[in-house]
Amino acid sequence: MLDQYAVFGNPIKHSLSPAIHNEFASQTEQSLVYRRKLVPIDSFSASVDKFFLEGGLGLNITLPFKIEAHDYADFLTDRAILAGAANILSRMPDGDICGDNSDGFGLITDIKTNLGWKIRSKRVLVLGAGGAVRGVLKPLLEEKPRSLVIANRTIKRAADLVEAFPDQLEISVCGYDNLCGRSFDLIINGTSAGLFGKGLSLPDRILSSRYAACYDMMYGSVSSAFLEWADKRGASVADGLGMLVEQAAESFFIWRGVRPHTEAVIKLLRERFSIS
Ligand code: ATR
Repeated sequence: MLDQYAVFGNPIKHSLSPAIHNEFASQTEQSLVYRRKLVPIDSFSASVDKFFLEGGLGLNITLPFKIEAHDYADFLTDRAILAGAANILSRMPDGDICGDNSDGFGLITDIKTNLGWKIRSKRVLVLGAGGAVRGVLKPLLEEKPRSLVIANRTIKRAADLVEAFPDQLEISVCGYDNLCGRSFDLIINGTSAGLFGKGLSLPDRILSSRYAACYDMMYGSVSSAFLEWADKRGASVADGLGMLVEQAAESFFIWRGVRPHTEAVIKLLRERFSIS
């Protein structure tokens, strides 16, 4: 039987993970099977038990199960502990299940390596304070931005997030209204507003005039409102497709010991799935 991998989520129909991992496998000449599975909301742990009992080797976990995956794992990597969520579950040789989180790695690699944008010494604004943002805060701080501000619709949620965080002194929080008069070099949208077809009401002047770049952790139509806002104001813009491919490449590396080339895969996905 070929080595078995899968992505678990709900919904899962539109997941690009099988296409990404199949490209990685053919590029690196690895024999494996990677499937997608729609997991009923109330049976995450039973589905994961079954997958590993039947010999499965590794899972990617997507919404809404990343926190359950974190709680399911027998042990966690430091980055999964800090993220409070796991997007990778891997079966170790002794049968234990390791929970890991490569979302922050994916974001930073896409921003720095693929896009060539700088984070070091930049004034960074992160929009949102949910699970997606929590997963990337530590890797962002490690890049040593000049400042890191988290703005969220519900300020209390941002404050709670930062309080639970070891490097909290380096992060400040506010609501969107309090952003007036401040400007940023890099703005990262980690909200799910686009999922509901909603834009964010951001003050116009928050983009620095010298250098401004805007990144949306979502991709496709979900990212368009925020990126259109940024593009109209002259910022460099990028969606989160590269982040998705980079977090997958990290999973593939963990499982197979080879690092796939990602650039061609990002390009191919844009063409095949018409993601602009
Ligand atoms: P995820 O795991 O994707 O981060 P989440 O934990 O539900 O999902 O967090 C969603 C984030 O998007 C939150 O920051 C949320 O703001 P609130 O904390 O105020 O709810 C933000 N969000 C969702 N819809 C939004 C909207 N229409 N306008 C502004 N922010 C929104």
